Amino acid sequence: MIRFEILTLFPDFFKGPLSESILNRACEKRLIDIRIINIRDFTADKHHVADDYPYGGGAGMVMKPEPIAKAICSLKEESPQPRVIFLTPQGKPFTQQRARELAQLERIVLLCGHYEGIDERVRMRHVDEEISIGDYVLTGGEAPALIVLDAVARMVPGVLGNEDSFRNDSFYEGILDYPHYTRPEEFEGDRVPETLLSGHHKKIEEWRRREALARTLRVRPDLLEHAPLSEEDHRILNELRKLG
Ligand code: ADE
Repeated sequence: MIRFEILTLFPDFFKGPLSESILNRACEKRLIDIRIINIRDFTADKHHVADDYPYGGGAGMVMKPEPIAKAICSLKEESPQPRVIFLTPQGKPFTQQRARELAQLERIVLLCGHYEGIDERVRMRHVDEEISIGDYVLTGGEAPALIVLDAVARMVPGVLGNEDSFRNDSFYEGILDYPHYTRPEEFEGDRVPETLLSGHHKKIEEWRRREALARTLRVRPDLLEHAPLSEEDHRILNELRKLG
């Protein structure tokens, strides 16, 4: 059981996504536990103000440090101790590798920033790790938190119906996924590749590997520099490069 706690100013953001499909089922099966915590509940003033003007001027507002610190400290009163992750474009790029590592933890706090960001002091003292989901700026950390939660949760054994269906995923082995087909055998004039209909498991496996390599070479050649590749993979890649 891995527990996620999301610290946010917009708890309703999560209502829809978390009530649907795989994540909801994972919660019901008690494989994961998700709690949404409103940072505003940790404000001390009667108007529940969670943001303020930036020192030094400039556009936008900054999230005040005290409510965030209080919220994190209240969570740390319980065991096991969580890893506190702040979602920000200034963080380390999120990867499948990091998702796999985080899935080993027992408790993860996802802190969602808003406005221009959070006070640097709370970041320094109370955040363990900063994650960016990509080189673009969103309106807040809620969507990124959901993305990290989803990617981590599906690595937890039992969350995907088929125990190990994540093992074939794009990036799990460092390259992109092979193409998938289902019925009908012919759709808008295109037939399912013959190999997939043959029932010949070894040939199917070879075909899928070749297609995955071809797709990676075409779309994400950068991945091939770090992917674990066999001699046979290199032979196929050389052949594909010659074919252009
Ligand atoms: N908050 C705003 N943009 C973000 C991004 N790209 N990654 C993580 N958190 C964010």
